[in-house]
Order: sequence, then structure tokens, then C-alpha cells
Amino acid sequence: FRKILLSSNNFSQEFILYNLSGKMFTFPQQTSTTEVRFTTQRQDMRAVTVCLRSFTDLKREHSLFSLALPTGANGFLIIKSAQSDAFDIWVREQHVKIEAQDFKLNMWQSICATWDASSGLIQLWLNGKPSSKKYTSSGHSINGPMIIVLGQDQDSYGGGFDTKQSFQSFVGMMEDVHMWDYTLSPCEIQGYMDEHYYPEGNVLNWNSVEFQSVGRVLIEEKLRACN
Ligand SMILES: *[C@@H]1O[C@H](CO)[C@@H](O)[C@H](O)[C@H]1NC(C)=O
Repeated sequence: FRKILLSSNNFSQEFILYNLSGKMFTFPQQTSTTEVRFTTQRQDMRAVTVCLRSFTDLKREHSLFSLALPTGANGFLIIKSAQSDAFDIWVREQHVKIEAQDFKLNMWQSICATWDASSGLIQLWLNGKPSSKKYTSSGHSINGPMIIVLGQDQDSYGGGFDTKQSFQSFVGMMEDVHMWDYTLSPCEIQGYMDEHYYPEGNVLNWNSVEFQSVGRVLIEEKLRACN
């Protein structure tokens, strides 16, 4: 494995454009500071799809994706709940619980969440299995300069990480993070889950992404079986 320690303790690095195809982020320890922060030019989204793959042995609640806006830290969040089969999704400060999704420890989990402003419906897909659609927030787009963080949950715009217990921090590996400003079709989502064909994210594209990191987070080759 090629290991790159990205930086330590501060945002000394500029945002750099990376092609992370075939790579993953490894978050090897529980902290209240380690994070990866993405940048995007987009400021107005009438719909969202976020897909990512995670691998963890965390049984506690943890943040998988945290998008904050100046108007509220819970712009678009995907939180794995402490309840083993549940997720919490937040859209524009509105929360909804998704249950009966069979999240497995120490196995890659493919997760996609979709939302659109006209219906206000969200849906969470896990390893090919869709959830019930649920209402969160409708009428308004997700707008303003977004701060997107992996590894921590933003309780305030760009910060507010839980310092006491690193309570919602992510420990494990994460890869193939994409975000679109439209809802992917079920077939496209299935393509993502199967690691077959899917469109690259037009808001965040893992194969061409700008990010900064803080703390001990490494870029490594994806873990895959030997051929
Ligand atoms: C990223 O790298 C992969 C594998 O090397 C390559 O197939 C792909 O075209 C690259 N994508 C971009 C946008 O550079």
C-alpha cells in the first residue's frame, strides 16, 4: 500500500485537485479533529444525490456525510444511528429516521441518499435495498456556500465537532464519494451499488475532487480481493 499522510493539525494545505479513482480514505483513530473537507463551486441545488462506500466496526452513532450551510449546519447529513439498522437523514434542518436497513460491520456498505425540493422526499439505499420514501423539507433549495466534511459532524458551519468523546467521528475507510444535483434513477443507483457503470458526480466527483484534510487521515489503495 502507498500511504500518504496528508497533513497535520491545521489547514496549511491548499485545496488540491485529486483523482481518487481506485483510492480510499482511511480514518484510523477516533479524534475530534481529523476531517476531510471538500470544496465545490455549486451554491444552489433543487435536488441532491449523495453516494459513498464506508467500512467500519463502529457500533455507535457516526457521521458519514456532513454538508453545512451558513443558514444551518444540518444542510444535508447522513448519520449512521447507534441503532444497528437505522440511519438519520437531515435536510435543511429537518430530520427523518430510516429504519430496517441492514448495516453490516467490517464489510463495505454502499449508501446512496436522494432528495428533491419539489416533493421534499428522501430515500436511502443500502447495498441495493431502497428504503421507504419519507418527507423532510420541500419548497426551498439547498443554497449558499456549502462546507462538506467527512470524518466529523458539523454542529456549526465548518466546525462544532464534538470534542468531549469524538462522539460522532468516523473511524474506518471511505471511498467513491459522489454528489449530484439531481436524483439518480434506481438503475443508476444499482450501477453504483454494483460498482458497475454510473455517472460521475456533477457536484462532487471522486475522480476529480478538491479537498483539504486535517489530522491522521490517509489515502490508500482500495481494499479488494486478489485477482
Ligand atoms: C482518474 O483515474 C482513472 C484511473 O487511472 C482514469 O480511468 C480516469 O479517466 C481518471 N479520471 C479523471 C477525471 O481524470
